[in-house]
Amino acid sequence: MSAIDLDEQQFAPLIDLQWWQEHPGDRTELYRRLRDAGRPVFVRTSRLGSPRVRGFWAVGAHRDVVSISRRPDEFSSGQGTQIFDQTAEMRAYRGSIIDMDDPEHMRLRKIVSRGFTPRMLTELRGLVTETTAEILEEMPASGTCDFVSAFATLLPLRIIDNMLGVPREHEQFILRATNVVLGASDPEYVPDQTVAGIEKAVSQTSEQLIDLLKSIAEDRIAHPRDDVISKLVTSDEENLTPQELAKFFILLIGAGNETTRNALSHGLLILSAHPEQRDRLMANYDELAPTAVEEILRYASPVIHMRRTVTRDGVTLTNEQDDVIHTFNEGDKVVMWYPAANRDPAVFENPETFDIERKPNNHLAFGGPGPHFCLGAHLARLELNVAFQMLYSRYPDITAASEPVMLRSNFVNGIKHLEAAYTP
Ligand code: HEM
Repeated sequence: MSAIDLDEQQFAPLIDLQWWQEHPGDRTELYRRLRDAGRPVFVRTSRLGSPRVRGFWAVGAHRDVVSISRRPDEFSSGQGTQIFDQTAEMRAYRGSIIDMDDPEHMRLRKIVSRGFTPRMLTELRGLVTETTAEILEEMPASGTCDFVSAFATLLPLRIIDNMLGVPREHEQFILRATNVVLGASDPEYVPDQTVAGIEKAVSQTSEQLIDLLKSIAEDRIAHPRDDVISKLVTSDEENLTPQELAKFFILLIGAGNETTRNALSHGLLILSAHPEQRDRLMANYDELAPTAVEEILRYASPVIHMRRTVTRDGVTLTNEQDDVIHTFNEGDKVVMWYPAANRDPAVFENPETFDIERKPNNHLAFGGPGPHFCLGAHLARLELNVAFQMLYSRYPDITAASEPVMLRSNFVNGIKHLEAAYTP
């Protein structure tokens, strides 16, 4: 049996979406095997991109994920960042900066960064606090709720909507649209799970999102306000075209919503499983919150993978001794598995232990160092920091009261439902 055959059998679960939904407890072992391979492992897939590419190379070591993220000239994002290639139609909606290479990526990132300056963030603290207070007051008086829909979904959604200037009346539509665009592989959100069915659902939803955005953008050009859309369409410097703005809007709705939602839900779950650490955190919040938030991000790893495509023959990965461990060919797909890297014992002491005081904590939950490092990382940290302080202050005994229902996805580490119990 060749090395490739062996890899295929061991690592087939990486693309078995049902496995991801039904066996979350087995992920740790799969990530361990991926790291222990000591080199990229090949996973064959039947849904092909180009005829030359018959699968992808999976990478789980922290060192390799860092190295790949740092070398965008050799590991490109421009051909897509998820395992399967998207059709040209899907790329028309989803091909925002995350799926681009420099110089185009840098040009657009510079423009959209206007919405994420330190000044904007300072101003946002007040908004995050007010929004969290509002959501906490709306939580059911019965003392039980689905934490995902009652809290975790609403906070990032209302923050993004507010930043973008989307009126509250569209909240439920944006929520449904996010679930379709980011949770397309789950039948709860897209019942027709054929390739055609998924594409149809995503394009229809994206069209509706674009229509909504265009009307908001036109309004802001005519009547600028203090929101991100106004900054992106009315500056004296270069502005986004309507098509670029539409794609960025869809990216933000996905990137900013789903990820933070899952970090919040995983956070409650993890802190419920570690009550002693939760109590310690609450007793000394200001001092411990920064490291606790990073540890929740490391432990939860809300984004499971990002893909790159090799730009030329002969691109290599090396180990600590600088020995070549793998040589790639042009067009090879390389998939980085962040949760595996975030539990790498070469970097993290006792990596399977949750420790709110972990320091240093060089996790890769926001991606590796490089041009695509998460643009919303500071905002996400701010939301987590404010949310847990206010949540436990308002409901000190809140705890996860069921097993989580996981999203059917190997891309987003999503929790769809999580019961919580608290004294109202
Ligand atoms: C816990 C929450 C979050 C996590 C775990 C997360 C994770 C990530 C990851 C892994 C990447 C890709 C990095 C790469 O390809 O190398 C990324 C990119 C990105 N994220 Fe986040 N993210 C979060 C929250 C947010 C928020 C709140 C926003 C905005 C409101 C945001 C906006 C973006 C954007 C625009 C990119 C693309 C950056 C580029 O390609 O230059 N993210 N994020």
